[in-house]
Amino acid sequence: MKYLIGIDIGTSATKTVLFDDKCRVIASATREYPLYQPHNGWAEQDPEDWYNAVISTLKSIVEKSNVNSEDIAGIGLSGQMHGLVMLDENNAVIRPSIIWCDQRTAKECEEITKRVGAERLIEITANPALTGFTASKILWVRNNEPENYSKCRHILLPKDYIRFKLTGEYATDVSDASGMQLLDIPNRCWSDEILEKLDIDRSMLGRVYESPEITGCITEEVSRLTGLSPKTCVVAGAGDNAAAAIGTGIVKDGKAFTTIGTSGVVYAHTSKPAIDKKGRVHTFCCAVPGCWHIMGVTQAAGLSLKWFKDNFCQDYIAEAEMKGCDVYDIINKLIENVPIGSNRLIYLPYLMGERTPHLDSDCRGVFFGLSGIHTKADLLRAVMEGVSFSLTDCKEILEEMGADISEMMACGGGGKSPVWRQILADMYNCNVKTITSDEGPALGAAILAGVGTGIFDSVESACDRFIQEKDTSFPNKSNNEKYRRLHRLYQKLYTSLKEDYKELAKLDI
Ligand code: XUL
Repeated sequence: MKYLIGIDIGTSATKTVLFDDKCRVIASATREYPLYQPHNGWAEQDPEDWYNAVISTLKSIVEKSNVNSEDIAGIGLSGQMHGLVMLDENNAVIRPSIIWCDQRTAKECEEITKRVGAERLIEITANPALTGFTASKILWVRNNEPENYSKCRHILLPKDYIRFKLTGEYATDVSDASGMQLLDIPNRCWSDEILEKLDIDRSMLGRVYESPEITGCITEEVSRLTGLSPKTCVVAGAGDNAAAAIGTGIVKDGKAFTTIGTSGVVYAHTSKPAIDKKGRVHTFCCAVPGCWHIMGVTQAAGLSLKWFKDNFCQDYIAEAEMKGCDVYDIINKLIENVPIGSNRLIYLPYLMGERTPHLDSDCRGVFFGLSGIHTKADLLRAVMEGVSFSLTDCKEILEEMGADISEMMACGGGGKSPVWRQILADMYNCNVKTITSDEGPALGAAILAGVGTGIFDSVESACDRFIQEKDTSFPNKSNNEKYRRLHRLYQKLYTSLKEDYKELAKLDI
């Protein structure tokens, strides 16, 4: 029997999973690491933390599984998108990675739009200049840390830094490269025009592959550190959302999923590169060769709930430790008993600014309607509902663009919560389904490795064989009516506060 590994380098942790050639989990390991926020709106991570997590989880699954390492045919990489990793001439990391949810680059986005032209930028990169994307982060380092920029020889995304450490190759895949804003999205290659206009040297970028293609093999050093065989291949892999799409079977037109991880994403597959002229959602190449996807992004989805739990739920954390259960199970139970609308409390999830639909790096979170009657359970439900309103905004724009979303798959940590899935079904007014596997991006990455190493014929056929539906949450009409009214108020709140957010950002205090 042959085996495959999927590695997902997430924002809160790296998850590494060993599958057999029927996509059954044989062993799995997770290791967490910190997120640094040195200033309001900034977000950085240490690439060495990702690498240490990858090595230790690989070692752990090889040891735990007792599988002959020669039988592990391939590894697929998935990871948080957009993060900037810069290496010097000795391949040393120059500065901490500025990651996807960092919002410091508003000025550089203006610079990009000026240099390329707003329309041309959307024509080539399918997106307006965005603070979350890599190009503006590169320009920020050039403008603010010229000594670091002058040392830079290689620019890599988070999972591609890990590829470099595992194989010695500088490479990326079309789906993750799409989020750099340097790729020609319709033609699936680096855009010379954009690189020239932004004055970025093409030789700093890795080679671009389709997601299932083999990019290299494990080095002798990594083999020694992990027990893997140097014959094991590493395929190009995909950004975490494109990988999650494969892991949930969203590989054909008419299919969509919502993921609630640190960020939240509503994603629809498309065989043509459909572009939102207003730039509210992203169009990227997807991991199915020759196809694309459109997606809306909520910056702080699971992050909102985790922020609330870490800061205000020490009692539930202690209770969970005592009972030996997951703190989110306790939270889910509490929320079930709070009525729709959280007793007239609305949460705006803008802890890290917002992408869809506002593209606003200055907006911040709000609890609206706080009263003396509210309890922690009301606030927790309001957080889940606020994130879901934002995801509903994403879904509505995808539908406006012609995506046919008659049902939605749910995945990510938040997708495991039955109460959160019911909130989504009620707001979306469609069935929300789960699949039997919880592995999402790691499974998607392993399937890509299976296709690249010839174990599976194609991404689509592997998904048809191995991805099976499990539970369905059905929408409730009367709940949907209530949510529609609340959603209108939720949307109005951003409009009312838009200028105040700018004032807050500029306040000299
Ligand atoms: C997508 C995005 C996030 C990250 C982190 O554009 O920024 O989903 O990939 O998961």
